[in-house]
Amino acid sequence: MSLLSAARAALRVYAVGAAVVVAQLLRRRLPGFAEPVFPRQLERVAIVTGGTDGIGYATAKHLAKLGMHVIIGGNNKGKAEEAVRKIKEETLNDKVEFLYCDLASMRSIQQFVQRFKMKKIPLHVLVNNAAATRRTRRTPRASWPWCSSPTTCRRCWRPRAAP
Ligand SMILES: NC(=O)c1ccc[n+]([C@@H]2O[C@H](COP(=O)([O-])OP(=O)(O)OC[C@H]3O[C@@H](n4cnc5c(N)ncnc54)[C@H](OP(=O)(O)O)[C@@H]3O)[C@@H](O)[C@H]2O)c1
Repeated sequence: MSLLSAARAALRVYAVGAAVVVAQLLRRRLPGFAEPVFPRQLERVAIVTGGTDGIGYATAKHLAKLGMHVIIGGNNKGKAEEAVRKIKEETLNDKVEFLYCDLASMRSIQQFVQRFKMKKIPLHVLVNNAAATRRTRRTPRASWPWCSSPTTCRRCWRPRAAP
């Protein structure tokens, strides 16, 4: 493949990508575009892990808007309290709360489950959203000392050990 035809193929891919983005933006602007309408979900309980930020936050807020009892599982108390406050304020749903859960620690997960069970409420929806994205890359946790991944470990981001 010549350099010119490779460049032409790459340009075509970018053009299609740009067209899709423009079409999506236009679709949002067109009259008649409506978000899907879901029925109210009163008396339903949802757990959203990582509900303090990004997709998890948006999910927790939407479920709260539907009237669900939403429990945000997260490992940052300050940030979670702020998220809970904002969601309550914006959805007028008081049944939004935070339970500490560091998903990088099995002990913390077990404690989270125990605390949830103590509430004696059912669970209808579990959104396993939390994860370390490249944006939230962390230093290795002491709770994964046995990690011996030969490459960068996706769970604890331990870099490749020197040979
Ligand atoms: N955004 C994308 O383009 C994309 C694409 C594909 C898949 N995903 C997946 O979608 C999910 C959400 O993505 P996002 O972009 O919304 O991520 P985000 O904005 O970084 O949010 C991640 C959430 O997970 C929490 N979290 C991270 N590690 C945790 C741990 N050990 N224990 C408890 N909570 C923890 C974070 O809490 P703190 O910030 O308080 O630490 C945060 O609330 C992730 O699973 C991601 O892999 C995202």
